[in-house]
Amino acid sequence: MMSYSSLLLQLLLLMNYGQDDEVIKIENINNYAVVFDAGSTGTRVHVYSFDRNMDLLPVGNDYEFFLSTKPGLSSYENDPEGGAQSLKPLLQKAQDVVPQQFLANTPVILGATAGLRQLPASATEAILDAVRNLFKNESKLSYKADWVSTLQGTDEGAYQWVTVNYLLGTLGKKYSSTVGVVDLGGGSVQMAYAISDKSAANAPKDEDAYVMDKLVMGTKYNLYSHSYSNYGQKAGRAQSLNLSGDAGNPCVTNGYQGTYEYLGVVYNVSAPLSGTSMRRCRALMRKTLRVDAPCNHTYCSFDGVWSGGGGLGLKNLYVASYFYDTAAETGLVEADAPSGKIRPIYYKNAAKKACSATVDNIKSIFPLLDERDVPFLCSDLIYEYTMLVDGFGVNQLKEITVVKQLEYKKDSSLPLLEAAWPLGCAVELVSSLVN
Ligand SMILES: *[C@@H]1O[C@H](CO)[C@@H](O)[C@H](O)[C@H]1NC(C)=O
Ligand SMILES: *[C@@H]1O[C@H](CO)[C@@H](O)[C@H](O)[C@H]1NC(C)=O
Ligand SMILES: *[C@@H]1O[C@H](CO)[C@@H](O)[C@H](O)[C@H]1NC(C)=O
Ligand SMILES: *[C@@H]1O[C@H](CO)[C@@H](O)[C@H](O)[C@H]1NC(C)=O
Repeated sequence: MMSYSSLLLQLLLLMNYGQDDEVIKIENINNYAVVFDAGSTGTRVHVYSFDRNMDLLPVGNDYEFFLSTKPGLSSYENDPEGGAQSLKPLLQKAQDVVPQQFLANTPVILGATAGLRQLPASATEAILDAVRNLFKNESKLSYKADWVSTLQGTDEGAYQWVTVNYLLGTLGKKYSSTVGVVDLGGGSVQMAYAISDKSAANAPKDEDAYVMDKLVMGTKYNLYSHSYSNYGQKAGRAQSLNLSGDAGNPCVTNGYQGTYEYLGVVYNVSAPLSGTSMRRCRALMRKTLRVDAPCNHTYCSFDGVWSGGGGLGLKNLYVASYFYDTAAETGLVEADAPSGKIRPIYYKNAAKKACSATVDNIKSIFPLLDERDVPFLCSDLIYEYTMLVDGFGVNQLKEITVVKQLEYKKDSSLPLLEAAWPLGCAVELVSSLVN
């Protein structure tokens, strides 16, 4: 039986531990952020926590708390209030994760991407206003009207650049240590990378702002960010079908006969009588991407867009979304691998097989191929290869990284995080609030 004095000793020890915990807590002021990603198919909420060095802290068992709901806010075109209400359970759960004492200092952010950008501006504003009312009236979090907004492609690309460099541990280092990021979405493709002061000074002044000043984690970057709208993978298929017309498209898998719908437009899809041809598909994709468009700048990528001039911020390139998906479907990266090292030429090598396959044997050659991609594998591979090599000017033998998720600071014992915009948005906002 335990004596009274040893029980007392244990109690005292417990109290001491308790006090130590308090001390640790006070020194490590946690900074939380709640980020809503309002995409086209659904809304997702992320809760992150940072210590005062801006290192990630665990939230529960993971490095983030994550929850999602369907459908997306864009389904509430005629019911903005209903849209806002659909976020309430996510808001509640996210608040439950943040300790009471930090609630009032925790920013709540909502970024609306592709889906909401396609609605009429008045409908989008009504939905965002309803969300603002919800956050303002019914959350205990720190709220600002500006933090609920539509993200332009360039913002999305820039935040994703922050995410990737944060996770790699290169954020806060000089620009030449950072990596560049290309995100191939369905509708648009984004490129973001840091450029030198000299290149930034040479940026075209007359048109869209290509370069933003990013002050993040105490370091200033000239960040080149551009969104090529109508050049995402799904848009690219449709553009190439428009160009090839009724006589058939040389990128379409042999033997396929069907239609493809993109943004309410239906396209006829079939290979020409002469069959699929990698060579003619390459030529068509160079046209689709307008690689030879007039260039009013010293350096252009494609479609007459200023390329940013390249440089050390592009020494290492991370490519995401459909670049990853196509690589995974064709076995260029291991199935379920969060990221992988490849070279642009791998897409072309896979295309040699895809462009000579038929609808009947393509799935035996590429067992992981999604049924919906059967008609377009040759097309997608050549589109991606052409975009990297002829569009962005990447040497086809250069090693690049296809990425979906990353380890935090390359520590494989820790959980993986998505290489997407919400974390970067949280990092940038929290680091600006802390400093
Ligand atoms: C929330 O606040 C806004 C403006 O402050 C107000 O118009 C609205 O009626 C409020 N909504 C609720 C549910 O209290
Ligand atoms: C293809 O052409 C049609 C008809 O001109 C047009 O409505 C559609 O937007 C084009 N598709 C793309 C992806 O540009
Ligand atoms: C697609 O094919 C159908 C049937 O052959 C034809 O009636 C239609 O005009 C075609 N549409 C286009 C856009 O070429
Ligand atoms: C390039 O300059 C010409 C003439 O100033 C102008 O008409 C054209 O729209 C410009 N092209 C681009 C892609 O900015």
